[in-house]
Amino acid sequence: MDQAIQKGDAIMGASRRLIAATGWKMNNDAAATRRYAAELYQRLAGLRVGSLELYVLPPFTSLAAAAAAFAPGPVAIGAQNMHAEDAGAWTGEVSAPMLVEAGCRYVELAHSERLAHFGETYELVRRKLNAALRHGLVPILCLGETAEDRTAGRADAVLCAQLDTALADQPAERIADAILAYEPRWAIGAAAAASPEHVAARHGAIRAQVARRWGAAAAAAVRIIYGGSVTPANGGALVALADVDGLFVGRAAWTAAGYAAMIDVVSRAATIKGVPT
Ligand code: PGA
Repeated sequence: MDQAIQKGDAIMGASRRLIAATGWKMNNDAAATRRYAAELYQRLAGLRVGSLELYVLPPFTSLAAAAAAFAPGPVAIGAQNMHAEDAGAWTGEVSAPMLVEAGCRYVELAHSERLAHFGETYELVRRKLNAALRHGLVPILCLGETAEDRTAGRADAVLCAQLDTALADQPAERIADAILAYEPRWAIGAAAAASPEHVAARHGAIRAQVARRWGAAAAAAVRIIYGGSVTPANGGALVALADVDGLFVGRAAWTAAGYAAMIDVVSRAATIKGVPT
């Protein structure tokens, strides 16, 4: 994909594959993971999955079950967190090489619950992201403003600062190896998602910052997905937006039926947007 994108394509980015992803948080043990996968495969048979990029992020202890259950594809697996070091005296932590060995292709970084409850900072996220890329994992870098930031009118400044810090060590050609996830912190686990107008503006600001700092080709290639109270009812209008390259779903996809419904929403959007399906 990356090679096909030339300088100047920044506006359309028509070759960006759409993503339908779910992070399970601390839900779905190994037995539930096996049941989820079995049901999802039945439901996928009735859907047009095409070349959509699909992945689930189970808890660490469900990764082995997920790796086995999803081995036939097309659903890949990833982790919700990792440590920045490869090994050592870090009790309770899990490293990038361990995630690779467990079958992970992705790792989520900077989720708002990691920032809020575990004291993570974007400086730490930068180090984790470097390690993830070094080991061939696809980092899903969450970016999001608080309600206070939004009210104060500094959402875009906050998002740009998070982006600049986390990707500070990356050259332009590595940017699209990560997936950016716009997850407004006030919209996670909330009653409603951010409005399409709000999401369009923030995704536009994030892509513009990538263009300013890393150039038009990186901006055209990098995927920016939206997460925060996505449902089958509100997801269609969000993923239809030009700068939204997929949906990152929590609660609504903790069941196989819910995830299948979200995959259907993204698949329909891919057809309408004319991106590969
Ligand atoms: P939610 O979670 O869809 O349940 O709001 C989203 C997230 O935490 O990424």
